[in-house]
Amino acid sequence: MTTNPIAEKSAPAQLHPHLDLVGSDIEVPLVSGGWRRYVNLDYAASTPALVEVAARLEAFLPYYSSVHRGAGIKSQISTAAYEGARESLREFFHGRPTDTVVITRNTTDSMNLLASCLPGGAKAVAFTSEHHATLLPWGHTQGSIQYLTMPKSAGQAISALGEYLTEHPDTALVAVTGASNVTGEVWPIAELTGLAHEHGARIVVDAAQMAPHLPIDMTSLDVDYLAASGHKLYAPYGAGVLIGRADWLDSADAYLRGGGAVEFVTPSEVLWSSGASRHEAGSPNVLGAVAMATACETLANFGMERIAAEEIDLAQYARRRLGEVPGIEVYRLWEPEAPRIGVVTFNLPPYDHSHLAAILSAEFGIGVRHGCFCAHPLILELLNVSDDQAATFRAELKAGRRPRLPGAVRMSIGIGTTREDIDYLVASLTNIVEHGTSWTYAIDPTTGEFAPDPDPRPWPSLPIALAR
Ligand SMILES: Cc1ncc(COP(=O)(O)O)c(C=O)c1O
Repeated sequence: MTTNPIAEKSAPAQLHPHLDLVGSDIEVPLVSGGWRRYVNLDYAASTPALVEVAARLEAFLPYYSSVHRGAGIKSQISTAAYEGARESLREFFHGRPTDTVVITRNTTDSMNLLASCLPGGAKAVAFTSEHHATLLPWGHTQGSIQYLTMPKSAGQAISALGEYLTEHPDTALVAVTGASNVTGEVWPIAELTGLAHEHGARIVVDAAQMAPHLPIDMTSLDVDYLAASGHKLYAPYGAGVLIGRADWLDSADAYLRGGGAVEFVTPSEVLWSSGASRHEAGSPNVLGAVAMATACETLANFGMERIAAEEIDLAQYARRRLGEVPGIEVYRLWEPEAPRIGVVTFNLPPYDHSHLAAILSAEFGIGVRHGCFCAHPLILELLNVSDDQAATFRAELKAGRRPRLPGAVRMSIGIGTTREDIDYLVASLTNIVEHGTSWTYAIDPTTGEFAPDPDPRPWPSLPIALAR
């Protein structure tokens, strides 16, 4: 009797009991010679892939094919995988059965999609502390946006929104972050959602930073829309998601126009689809969707509460330890005790943020982020940049020059981060304070960023094109 390989392959895979990450033991070269284990403290930008995600994608890849329109069995398996991913994402975020789950490219794409679906004349409101993905999409579409001054506590956020909604009862949508990508504060989503609904508005939560670190239940929170990115959820394969109420999405024009978003087309008329496909024209990112869903399944099986508990503890440790570095300036928007995810943003005068990040990479093998973190108004506020200074930067940029913009360094943690990693960052920063740098750095004219000069570090030989 011959076995049926498809039936065998489609049996549910055994979940890995641990949350291992691809590349967690990679050694990197240092400018001074020698190698050391890469200390990745840049999870808030993009997370490494879960081993489980890479393994399951590899198992699926031989069956990967076109979705939705193929009669071949691979197409049917791929379609089932794509639609299965949609349902897994709904389950992970506890979306309602009636919610539409649109596979997008990322959180930015999800927010722009929702902005394009605001009913005609609808008004949105957001705090100026938002990431640009949640700050910027609204004003350029049919709706319009009002900005609220960034609050100095969760309580202020609630009272400011309450006052605004009372004075502006025609507000249709509140756009708010779940957790800040700059200062880590976790926003009071339940209270803000309650307020929005009390005043007849809806809420969209930017869960880009919240989703990988805290459990989210859209149904019990009564959140109307949620946006998230796979690449921040240990699935860096290019998919994101928008989950939420179907009516606005079904009434709006297709976000992308083309094949897959229609029921029937004649030269004179188009009958557009409803549901997610209305906004997913073109061949979708099947592998990205499957990867994101697999990551969510893996995280849920491990337990988001468990992940959150471990990371909150580590985040508090990181803030406390970093505070011990002589001369460091650690930024926060809200009071020190406010609940936070593991994101700590700082400066270490007199070092420029770009210089400090380059030193940490070149001399210590530590990966962090630096700059304004796509939240310019928040960074200007945290660094006390005056309106006049901001106007000067703007004028310089408009004149085609490249001024050194203010910014900071951000360390961020996730699965796999240890106390040893944090201790190593603290020891490295302390070493920089006490002994200065041991290499020379110059501003790279192409990127405008500090880089080791010279940079003798060899790069790995990889079977892909690298522009260098
Ligand atoms: C809070 C927040 N919102 C939105 C985004 C945008 O995410 P993406 O780049 O995946 O669209 C980010 C990315 O850093 C973020 O941190």
